Amino acid sequence: MDTYLALEYGHREELPDEYVNEVRTPDALVAHFVKAFTDPGDRVIDIFAGYGTTLTVAEHLDRVPFGIEYEADRVAHIQDRISTPTHVRHGSVLDLEPSWFPPCECCFTSPPFMTQTMEENPFENYAGRSTYEEYLADIETAFTRLGSVLAPGGHVVVDVANMKHDGTVTPLAWDIADRVSNVFEFEGEVVVTWEGESPIGRDGRFGYGYDHTYCHVFRNSEP
Ligand SMILES: C[S@@+](CC[C@H](N)C(=O)[O-])C[C@H]1O[C@@H](n2cnc3c(N)ncnc32)[C@H](O)[C@@H]1O
Repeated sequence: MDTYLALEYGHREELPDEYVNEVRTPDALVAHFVKAFTDPGDRVIDIFAGYGTTLTVAEHLDRVPFGIEYEADRVAHIQDRISTPTHVRHGSVLDLEPSWFPPCECCFTSPPFMTQTMEENPFENYAGRSTYEEYLADIETAFTRLGSVLAPGGHVVVDVANMKHDGTVTPLAWDIADRVSNVFEFEGEVVVTWEGESPIGRDGRFGYGYDHTYCHVFRNSEP
């Protein structure tokens, strides 16, 4: 596994105008890991499906996509873009039941982010309240739930950055890796940076005060 990647930032399809400032995973990043960890015909899931980058890229690569997303309009957006609309479920990953999905060979996902100074709950799309500790507990619950639908030996790739905001650093990438390691075997981190035009013009080239992000790779070692 390469531990450093420089990829082109971009998407095959643009979002409608009302969503243009939303954070999306670049297609090339999903494609890299889906090709590395699955074969055509395998199932790929995203438990924080967002606008469906993982699902649409997986389908484009002849994998079978599945997903969960909290926001109804994002679910509808994905359903219009994949050939199996019933494979994306509207709901919370915290409620995921094993009966919701068949065993999946790979999960590629990017959780909703939180800083240590925030008080909004990312697991309710920043509507309710949460502490950072509660958020990290929810992260561990989400990946524990994922474990019930991840095939033995299957891989989990978590795209996450540390966050530098108003002079403070939240080591989100480390904290999430720590929690997910309680569920799956950690195989290592890949540093990811972008070539070409910068994505969203926030404070830093990547957008969270850093020029790079990470993909943490885990494996389901349970039989
Ligand atoms: C960082 S975004 C994922 C972006 C996605 N990779 C893409 O390219 O579009 C995180 C997503 O998690 C969703 N989310 C938040 N809480 C959730 C929950 N409890 N269950 C499932 N999805 C949730 C948010 O609505 C958001 O769309």
